[in-house]
Amino acid sequence: MPIWNFAPGPAVLPAEVMRQAREEFLDWNQGGTSVMETSHRSKAFMRMAGDAEADLRALLAIPDAYAVLFMQGGASAQFALVPLNLTAPGERVDYVNTGHWSRKAIEEAGRYCHVHLAADAAPPGTSVPQQAELALSPDARYLHYTSNETIGGVQFDYVPDAHGTPLVADMSSDILSRPLPVEKFGLIYAGAQKNIGPAGLVIVIVHKELLGRARSETPSVFDYRKVAAEGSMLNTPPTFAWYMAGLVFKWLRRQGGLAAMGALNRAKAEALYAAIDGSDGFYRNAIVPTSRSWMNVTFTLEDPGLDGAFLDAAAAAGLLNLKGHRVAGGMRASLYNAMPLAGVLALGEFMRDFAERRR
Ligand SMILES: Cc1ncc(COP(=O)(O)O)c(C=O)c1O
Repeated sequence: MPIWNFAPGPAVLPAEVMRQAREEFLDWNQGGTSVMETSHRSKAFMRMAGDAEADLRALLAIPDAYAVLFMQGGASAQFALVPLNLTAPGERVDYVNTGHWSRKAIEEAGRYCHVHLAADAAPPGTSVPQQAELALSPDARYLHYTSNETIGGVQFDYVPDAHGTPLVADMSSDILSRPLPVEKFGLIYAGAQKNIGPAGLVIVIVHKELLGRARSETPSVFDYRKVAAEGSMLNTPPTFAWYMAGLVFKWLRRQGGLAAMGALNRAKAEALYAAIDGSDGFYRNAIVPTSRSWMNVTFTLEDPGLDGAFLDAAAAAGLLNLKGHRVAGGMRASLYNAMPLAGVLALGEFMRDFAERRR
């Protein structure tokens, strides 16, 4: 029986990549040691690291004017590092609140600067604000938004226009899921453990104009300019996660890049929302259709008393990790790049079958 892992992160990785990593586990690059046992300063590792960056640049068509950083501390560290690197104390920044993760980013930024809410979705947040609803401050140092709320299942279907202010995005749960106009952004950050690779790595794509503005108290390992100047090797990087990310980038290129992933991810999301919408109310997704996430599909059962039976039967059918986040309840199916269409179709069929049996 195939196993389909719908976990929100750490999440499923491409089977082909996992097999390659297994094959190379004890003897990487014919060096006789594992990549985990290899110096980050060795020629072989430096070459691999450079290839990973080049593949990411090719996938996202990242212009030369941007630095790509391989950092640690997860996306949560970036909640603090963005204001520390881009503002002086007391300066104003604009944030869009669309749910759990934007609230976390807002709370942390509030420790360092004056946060103005450009838009504020009251919980539970069933849509993203439209461009015309964004109240931008004339003196904001940047505009921050969360492109995909992993817990709520709400995703931006457009790139906000910040009217010349640097646009900053937390793309932890939808980076690399479809083509992206990087040139519209000042800075993009993303934790790796969804669409990139194992946890422990966070990617930062930052316009070089924004480097060199860090507050003096910013730790050196978290100062974007210093990290960029040292090729993300100011200290020992998370070598295994970087290696795995490199394999995933190569895999993505073999799949046809982000245009192909976008078409596949759209088809996966449409199939699952169709199963929910076509269930005569047995399942329900509360998100406004244009704000529905392609990556994290949330739904509730009409009778929450059936939640346990649903999860047990799903697990018995090989459909794993469908329980919604503890703050949201209900169900959530995460459909990252490495989840094949076949897994989503299997879930849709199981849901139809379960509804028929338990209605
Ligand atoms: C959108 C988003 N931002 C931030 C985070 C926090 O990431 P980390 O645990 O890597 O700090 C997550 C984690 O799931 C997330 O989904």
